[in-house]
Amino acid sequence: MKLKTPYYFIEEKKLLENMKKIAFIREQSGAKFVLALKCFSTWCVFDLMSKYMDGTTSSALYEAKLGYEKFGKEVHAYSVAYPKEEILELKKFADKIIFNSISQLKRFYPLVKNKNLGIRVNPKISYSHFDLADPARKNSRLGVINKKDILDNLDKINGLMFHFNCENEDADNLEQSLNYIGKNYSKMLEKVEWVSFGGGIYFTKAGYNIEKFCKILRDFSKKYNVQIYLEPGESSITMSAKLVTSVLDITHNGKNIAVIDSSTEAHMLDLLTYHTPAKMAKQKNAKYEYIVAGRTCLAGDIFGTYKFTKPLKIGDKIVFEDAAGYSMVKMNWFNGVPMPSIVVKRLNGKKELVKSFTYKDFIGNLS
Ligand SMILES: Cc1ncc(COP(=O)(O)O)c(C=O)c1O
Repeated sequence: MKLKTPYYFIEEKKLLENMKKIAFIREQSGAKFVLALKCFSTWCVFDLMSKYMDGTTSSALYEAKLGYEKFGKEVHAYSVAYPKEEILELKKFADKIIFNSISQLKRFYPLVKNKNLGIRVNPKISYSHFDLADPARKNSRLGVINKKDILDNLDKINGLMFHFNCENEDADNLEQSLNYIGKNYSKMLEKVEWVSFGGGIYFTKAGYNIEKFCKILRDFSKKYNVQIYLEPGESSITMSAKLVTSVLDITHNGKNIAVIDSSTEAHMLDLLTYHTPAKMAKQKNAKYEYIVAGRTCLAGDIFGTYKFTKPLKIGDKIVFEDAAGYSMVKMNWFNGVPMPSIVVKRLNGKKELVKSFTYKDFIGNLS
């Protein structure tokens, strides 16, 4: 199949490697796994993922609806703040509704008191490489800090959610955090049915101590008699997709610059948000260096600086690795640059062009 760049290329075989790790941890630890749709909502591979995971978690009504319709199994709904109309919709199909504040819990409790409810706790500890993504940052609005407020409202809830990690690849650090949470929240942990430790635990990263991870989860769950949930986004899809692009132009300003048919701003926004380069596989004997840049008007639309084996020429493919998380969900039409299509290589080896975007999508996006 001749594929036109740019496109995201999802390989089910690679996705399956993550799913098998999840299956192992589920079995060894008893924890349940719900996919964080905020990270990855590309539902053409949900049939595969839903065989290994327990459901989805969401950040607003539309994600929850997507989880319900396309993934199935458990639908967890969480939001930093719900408008009333979302609560009225969610109560029809969400299995768990998690509130971010006591005021939201109290306000909507009369509408959802027969549902399985949770509250997000801010444990005032976190692991994050970035202040922007640190849920325990100064004056954070994410979760309830005051323990007495939670204890006073325990009769209304069934579970607690602690999301306090971001790309935490250190199982020892997680152990310390769970010990801290156990010690500091034991009174409420003993009274609830479930506890979610959110996302941000990088257990599919090469070298992560999975055996230890299982033990930490199993011990915690036993000690407090709670069902543990995890909400992996990134860890569900690690290294399962690439962004395939082509060189459109080569220029020089102090350094060689290759302009490609994609854009950080439009297709991999987090690179700009977190000031990180896109991942690219290292080439052998690479000595030709280029700044690889996007085609939008934004001066800083830069994927990174890379070395290549041969000098680049127009039409060469440039492939970024590990490109699925927080990219496809954030795609936008900045500059009217065509959105990358979505191609899936199924487990049987067949490539499927599942989605391509046209001018009709662009014009339909606004009016
Ligand atoms: C509440 C909650 N759960 C899960 C996640 C998923 O995190 P990750 O993709 O890092 O695993 C996030 C990410 O921000 C989150 O805020």
